[in-house]
Amino acid sequence: MVKINENYLKLPGSYLFSTIAKKIAAYQEANPDKAEDMIRLGIGDVTLPIAPAIVEAIHKAADDMGRAETFHGYAPDMGYAFLRETIAQRDYKDRGCRIEADEIFVSDGSKSDCGNIQEIFSHDNRIAVCDPVYPVYVDSNVMAGRTGEYDTEAGIWSNVIYMPCTADNCFVPELPKETPDLIYLCIPNNPTGTTLTRKQLKVWVDYANRVGAVILYDGAYEAYISEEDVPHSIYEIEGARTCAIEFRSFSKKAGFTGVRLGFTVVPKDLKCGNVMLHALWARRHGTKFNGAPYIEQRAAEAVYSQEGHKQVMEQVAYYKKNTRVIYDGLKEAGYTVFGGVNSPYVWLKTDDGMNSWEFFDYLLENARVVGTPGSGFGPSGEGYFRLTGFGTYENTVKAVMRMKALKRKK
Ligand code: MLT
Repeated sequence: MVKINENYLKLPGSYLFSTIAKKIAAYQEANPDKAEDMIRLGIGDVTLPIAPAIVEAIHKAADDMGRAETFHGYAPDMGYAFLRETIAQRDYKDRGCRIEADEIFVSDGSKSDCGNIQEIFSHDNRIAVCDPVYPVYVDSNVMAGRTGEYDTEAGIWSNVIYMPCTADNCFVPELPKETPDLIYLCIPNNPTGTTLTRKQLKVWVDYANRVGAVILYDGAYEAYISEEDVPHSIYEIEGARTCAIEFRSFSKKAGFTGVRLGFTVVPKDLKCGNVMLHALWARRHGTKFNGAPYIEQRAAEAVYSQEGHKQVMEQVAYYKKNTRVIYDGLKEAGYTVFGGVNSPYVWLKTDDGMNSWEFFDYLLENARVVGTPGSGFGPSGEGYFRLTGFGTYENTVKAVMRMKALKRKK
């Protein structure tokens, strides 16, 4: 009889954002009169339409697909040279990073790559994650059978090294006591919205090179970095070419959550023994992925054009303004808030010692505001809550006003 991958049965509940979507749907069904008035600041999904310069590129690429001379079938597995060369220049060389176009793998988004990358590593490797963090890293390793057993009470996996990032250590992970093989770093961090300076990141690069670990560096929120001493790429740090893989996304920078495009950088200097990880990822990519669509790669190319860049950075500024409204408004109301400066996320302490899910229900019930419970990102997220700056400005202001009013009622 066929056997299933039993590791899937170990996963507690459904994926965090699917659980939230189900809860919202149940609330809407039970309260049809309040559904309209609900403000969603939960999943980090953008609300502004795709910028005009990018829409124009999409139209043009669609026309290309309709003419024999410019039609494109399967894209090259790693992505078209026009996009990889642009990325190498603009995201890396212009920042002083030595990354070549043939070290860039274009994909259908960085969530897939963050989830799939573990496939090229041995089953025996131990992973270390910041706690709290984007749940895809742990969940994808659970599916692969790398995480041991789940302790329901504590919300932890026996074979995962958790690196708590809390107010006590200013959300800066400390080097773990046990030595990991794979270290996931999401910088700026999802969900806390906090980040690492160059000096702090250098500690991790040196550590990984010293112990022979690989850093899986998720830079999805890079466009939101405001502070000078925060690196935009791990390759700005000397030594990163021999220990780090970087994931980048167009979702939060250019509103591509529905378009789907991202890329992964695997430097050719990154080796395990004699094996180049670049060769393994190329093999995996070529076998399991048929190249991102031409139209989307042309759209991504337009993100770097003069007009496109200006327009997407205006959108980023809009979301950053929303984030500021949340941060300042909630702080003024007496909430304890973190993040928000180099990130579209504000991380706040729940009220009155409520746990994260109790606060989720309380806010939905009393303010019709949806956020994300901190415990969904790891055990150290318990007692915290995440709000995103990706809503509309009007809704963001309204949500903050409702939360302020709620606080006043207490
Ligand atoms: C989030 O809300 O954490 C993100 O939008 C999820 C994602 O990028 O997949």
